[in-house]
Amino acid sequence: MLVLERGARRGGAGVRRAVLWHSTQAVKHEARRGGATPVVASPAGASASAADGGAHGRMVSAHSRRSLQQKFYENRILDRFTAQDPKKVSLRQLVLFGRQLTVDKLIASANYVRSELPVRLAHRISDFQFLPYIAGTNPHLKMVYDLYWRAFDEFRKFPTIKTLDDNRRFCDNMKKNLLEHSQVIPQLGMGVAECADLVGQNEIDLFMNQMLISRISRRTLAEQHIALSEQFDDDLRAHLNLLPSEGFAKLARAPPGFSTQRIGVVRADCNLAQLINDCAMHAAGPFEEAHHLPPGSAPQVIVEGHTDAALMCIPAHVSYIIYELLKNSVGRVMERFAGRLERSDPAAASGEPAFPPIRVTICSSHSDIVVRVSDQSGGVSPEILPFVWSFTHPLKAKHLRNFHAVRRMEARMDEGDAAVSPLMALGFGLPMSRIYARYWGGDVNVHSLPGYGVDAYVHLPRLGNAVENISSQRHQAAAHAHHPGCSHSHSHSQTHSL
Ligand SMILES: Nc1ncnc2c1ncn2[C@@H]1O[C@H](COP(=O)(O)OP(=O)(O)O)[C@@H](O)[C@H]1O
Ligand SMILES: [Mg+2]
Repeated sequence: MLVLERGARRGGAGVRRAVLWHSTQAVKHEARRGGATPVVASPAGASASAADGGAHGRMVSAHSRRSLQQKFYENRILDRFTAQDPKKVSLRQLVLFGRQLTVDKLIASANYVRSELPVRLAHRISDFQFLPYIAGTNPHLKMVYDLYWRAFDEFRKFPTIKTLDDNRRFCDNMKKNLLEHSQVIPQLGMGVAECADLVGQNEIDLFMNQMLISRISRRTLAEQHIALSEQFDDDLRAHLNLLPSEGFAKLARAPPGFSTQRIGVVRADCNLAQLINDCAMHAAGPFEEAHHLPPGSAPQVIVEGHTDAALMCIPAHVSYIIYELLKNSVGRVMERFAGRLERSDPAAASGEPAFPPIRVTICSSHSDIVVRVSDQSGGVSPEILPFVWSFTHPLKAKHLRNFHAVRRMEARMDEGDAAVSPLMALGFGLPMSRIYARYWGGDVNVHSLPGYGVDAYVHLPRLGNAVENISSQRHQAAAHAHHPGCSHSHSHSQTHSL
């Protein structure tokens, strides 16, 4: 440890960061082996134990021992949480729970989220500690690691929620965290782009898939509970005939038996054709502006098939998937056929639409929905095709530059005030869409028809009874990565009662 500390001093802040990160890891391994003196490889590759060194060494050693004790203590806490598996829910459970919402149920939901968030965060913090050594020197990854530790500490220390007032404080805390953590995706994006040449592609993709699916899961729990709480407050206010300006004090206690019928961010029967039309509008606008074309000039999006199909879903998740696919289609088709906008082009002279349409076919069975998005973009270029699901990409230098301009990103169609231009290539659209789909037991696939276009397929379970597809442990995730066919579990077991 002594040599490691000296090496860290010589190596500057970047190395010191890595040392802290990895001393944590070393203490962890040592604790598991039952040893007392941690032995850690120095950044230069040498290794030493705290037993060697002179007087100065003993001083440094005392200091480092204190810091190690602190890390040891922190990791003991972390271990307590990583020993627990997440208690997974299904959309159907969220819907059933939200119906007939009472004070007791709202408080139970708050305490479920309160105890679930630190467990889910702890698993991801532990993933950081298992990243290869070199990743520990990356400031963007370190920033996310620190954010996660802070949130983990805050939520694990949050006292049991007993009253509506406690719940409001808890919701405020979650809102603050949701906002603060909207920096996470750009920071992860920059971190992995910078580490891509030093850490293997599989390692990065496994890490990112785990990080992002878990992030969706935590945000889903938080957003669902916040939405339920706000709806409950509104309904209670209306029931008590209170003006919106009247303070929370009057809402402190709901009359016995008071209940509402809201279901938060989930929709029990979301009409898919309507949602797709909405996404098409959002996808077309920025490209029309970029090409200085009037509204309605972008390729037409034709929605056909089972247009009355509905599914149980979180509309924000499904619309992100469809929006990203349509953005790719619209952008590439316009790029390919841009020449047709020239006055001299026969197509422009004939008054025909300049661009071939994008066809979106909905197909619904009792239990599943498949959406096919077909375009005539010419297909995915062969050098990009093997990387479309990867977070390490041949265009990563460009993605890195673009990510530098993005301060916040929530990965939603409506990014609100976040500074993400829809036209900015970040290489996240397809992998992130697949993660959203897989989270609820679905999937996304892309078939490239060279020289013609792309067919993208989105599969979504319709009834909402698949539980969250989150595997807490690294080895489970690795197994999923090696057997992609198993990655969307339809497991109906292990569900959790709120
Ligand atoms: N419909 C499509 N037609 C042609 N190429 C596509 C299509 N969809 C995706 N691609 C290719 O796959 C790449 C990755 O897409 P995506 O993950 O959405 O990232 P981004 O759009 O930010 O580049 C695109 O840059 C593009 O080269
Ligand atoms: Mg895209």
